[in-house]
Formats: sequence, structure tokens, C-alpha cells
Amino acid sequence: MERAHPQMPEPAAAPSGSAGKKVFVKTYGCQMNVYDSQRMADALAADGYGPTEIMEEADLILLNTCHIREKAAEKVYSALGRLRQLKEERALAGRETLIGVAGCVAQAEGEEIIRRSPAVDLVIGPQTYHRLASAVTRARGGEKVVETEYAIEDKFEHLPALQRKAVRARGVTAFLTVQEGCDKFCTFCVVPYTRGSEVSRPVVQIVAEAERLAEAGVREITLLGQNVNAWHGAGPDGSEWGLGQLLFRLAEIPGIARLRYTTSHPRDMDDALIAAHRDLGTLMPYLHLPVQSGSDRILKAMNRRHTAADYLRLIDRIRAARPDIAMSGDFIVGFPGETDADFEDTMRLIKEVTYAQAFSFKYSPRPGTPGADLEFQVSEAVKDERLQKLQALLSRQQSAFAASLVGRDMELLLEKPGRMPGQRVGRSPWLQPVIVDETAGEIGDIVNVRITQAGSNSLFAEIGVPA
Ligand code: SAH
Ligand code: SF4
Ligand code: F3S
Repeated sequence: MERAHPQMPEPAAAPSGSAGKKVFVKTYGCQMNVYDSQRMADALAADGYGPTEIMEEADLILLNTCHIREKAAEKVYSALGRLRQLKEERALAGRETLIGVAGCVAQAEGEEIIRRSPAVDLVIGPQTYHRLASAVTRARGGEKVVETEYAIEDKFEHLPALQRKAVRARGVTAFLTVQEGCDKFCTFCVVPYTRGSEVSRPVVQIVAEAERLAEAGVREITLLGQNVNAWHGAGPDGSEWGLGQLLFRLAEIPGIARLRYTTSHPRDMDDALIAAHRDLGTLMPYLHLPVQSGSDRILKAMNRRHTAADYLRLIDRIRAARPDIAMSGDFIVGFPGETDADFEDTMRLIKEVTYAQAFSFKYSPRPGTPGADLEFQVSEAVKDERLQKLQALLSRQQSAFAASLVGRDMELLLEKPGRMPGQRVGRSPWLQPVIVDETAGEIGDIVNVRITQAGSNSLFAEIGVPA
């Protein structure tokens, strides 16, 4: 159901004052921030701010920030320290620089950011970037602007208008946000507070955006959401669709050859989605499905609302549907109360699943989350030791997975030129970068190759014979 929405005013020409100015956006955090950064650049481009990759050229510097762990948030403040200096130096030379903080730190800390870093002119939360252009105009007038009141629906309503204004050329792969926010409230996590509750974008909007991407030459789309598999919406026939049905619909779009989605919660993997992994060739055989811990005691304390056995059973069902699927996951070590035995349970789970790829973190207590107030916080030394062990295991599994592909024939989507002349970089179905000779084909082609060698971060391939 779409609410009636006022048309975004679309200026015929860039308003005077911002014409010729440049914006530099620095992105921290997850893929949703990458997507949001592009939309922010789109919104500002229509207002006369051209994008630049060079910070020194920019009149407006936007940091799109992440609050997930303390380190992520601290990075923002050290960046702001450096920016203050730049701003002061430029002011002496008579040149104005605006500094904006967007994203999850903006949402979590609001005006506190300006109090701590007075060089900041503008604080804008992740659900308000459709108001970015007007916020920038106000900031240019000397006002300190804080926009953090959010309604994700507003943002979704304005996305199509922002996209129509898009001027940036894209590559052959793209992100598309279909769902935002989280109602799960894992006790370690800030996301439900920074991104709000779960909201799904309507089917028509998603299909229209995917079609526009396909027309621009995109071959592979990754659907994004904090809980992307919780996405649901009314299909054209009026019935309630889940992510599985949506994927089938998107696969019909001419030009779209590959689909992926991230990040999923184990509790929202329904039968239709698992069936899509079996029946939809366009859906790539790679799934990021975080489990966080292999200990039921810790999973309970984390409020994950599934056990280790639930997760393993789920993976069995997914693998029965798509035997060549590669699994990826997220892990936290040192959640409060985690004992050696709990940690060993996690190691055991990893051995049982075997991951092709994974991300692992030391628990970082976040202000406002229940985990931060728990007793029995684990010492840094123990966290370090556990993380090292866990990462060693995961990296052995990752190398073994890459090595298992040597000699295999597969399809590559050619994405970009390689670092060396004469090379192209393609993407395997399992998300690995693969280096191949440029005679393999043009960027955007899907070509047959045979893997010849597994390096530490990428695979190498020779041009193969079509099956
Ligand atoms: N919505 C996704 C994950 C979002 S955050 C999901 O539910 O899977 C990405 C990852 O950061 C999480 O999976 C978790 O492993 C990690 N993470 C989140 N909060 C953390 C914290 N306080 N300390 C350490 N790692 C954390
Ligand atoms: Fe955070 Fe848990 Fe929500 Fe993922 S499911 S975003 S880890 S609260
Ligand atoms: Fe970070 Fe916000 Fe993403 S906290 S991980 S940028 S949702």
C-alpha cells in the first residue's frame, strides 16, 4: 500500500550559490551506508553539488558514519579532528567548507556531535537524507542543522524522486535497499536504535528501481536490508509476498543476470526463500547468514531467539535445496559471560558448517544496549585470544574453499579492468574476485572460465569453453 505523496520539487536548474560546488562523501559501515551515500550524492547533484573523490576539492564534506562498534564511532571523531584543521586553514584563505555527519552516529548522538566537534555544520540521520539539500542550504546560511527525526517510510517515498535525479554512471553491479530497520533487538546491537523498526519498500518501487538499474547496464543486483529476509509486501495480485517471490519477479527483468541479498536473520529464512535457492538460477549460491555464537547460553543472552541446533538444521535445509551454496557468517567473541566452553561451542559450530567467508568481531559494549549493562564483561586479553583462534580457523576454511575451486569451470561476471594492463576482474558466483585476461570479454559480460589458481584474496582463471 503506497501512501499518496507530494511530488518532490524538482528544480529546473541548480539554485544559485551551489552551482559548481563539490561534495565528498566518505562512507563507513555496512552496504546500506554505501547505498545511502550514493543517494545523498544523487540528491545533492540535483542541487548543484557535483561529486568528487578528492576531499581537498570539496566544499561540502559528508561523513556517512557507523555506530556498530566503539572503534567505528571513534573513527568519526578522529576524522572530524582532521577536518576541523582543514576547515580552519581554508577559512583563513577565505574559502568556506561545510562539514556534515550522516548515518548511524548522527542518529545515535545527534547534537552531541556538534557539542564535541563544533566544526560540524550539519548532522543528518539515515532516514532524513531526502531533506539533505535543504539542510545544506540552511547550514550555508550559518545555521547549525540537526535532522534526526525519522520515519523510514518518508525516506522510501522520496527515493524514486531522488533516483530520477541520479546523474552518476554506475558499474555492472548495484545495491538496492528493499528493507530497512530491525525489530530483533539482539542485546549487543545498536541497529534497532539507529535505523528504527523494520520497514519494507513496496514491490512497485523496488521493481521500478531494478528496471532503471538494468537499463543503465547493471547485470547483478544485491538486495539490501538489515533483515532483508524479513522483507514482505503486497504483490501485484494482492497476495502477500516474501523475499522469495520478490526475487522471482526481479529475475524476470531483462538484463538482470544475477541476484543476491544481504543480510539475513536465521529466524526469517522461510520455505519460499529456501525454494528460491533451489529453483531460481539467477539467485547466486552464496548466503550471508550470521549466527554470532555457537553456544545456546550465549545465544539466549544475546536474544537471538534461535539455538545452535536450529541454525545447523536450517543450513541443512538450505544445502539440500542448493548443494553448492557457500555460507558466510558473522561472529562475536567475548559477549558478557562467555566462557571457554561457550567459545569452544562456537568453534565446533564453525567446523560443522564450514564457511567460505566470515566476519568476526570482539564484543564492543554499546551505550543504550542491554549487553553493555551485563555483569561478567570479558577482558580484552581473552577477547583477543579468542578472536585470533576463531579467525585462524575461519581463514583456513576460506582458503580451503578457494583451493577447492581450482580446476573448476564457472561463469564470471566481468566487473572492471584489472590492476595490471591486459586484465579484467570478474566476480564468481560465490562472490570472489577472479582475475582473467581481458580478451575474455567486455565489462558486463558473463563469460565461461576455468579457475587455474587460488591467491590469498582472489582467484585466477583462463578463458573457458562454453558448456
Ligand atoms: N542485521 C545483521 C547484522 C548487523 S551488524 C544481522 O542481524 O545479522 C553486523 C555485525 O556486526 C553483526 O552481525 C555482529 O556480528 C556485529 N556486531 C553488532 N554489534 C556488535 C557489537 N556491539 N560488538 C561487536 N560486534 C557487533
Ligand atoms: Fe542487530 Fe540483531 Fe537486528 Fe541484526 S538482527 S541488526 S544483529 S539487532
Ligand atoms: Fe553501522 Fe549503521 Fe550499518 S551502525 S553497520 S552503518 S546500520
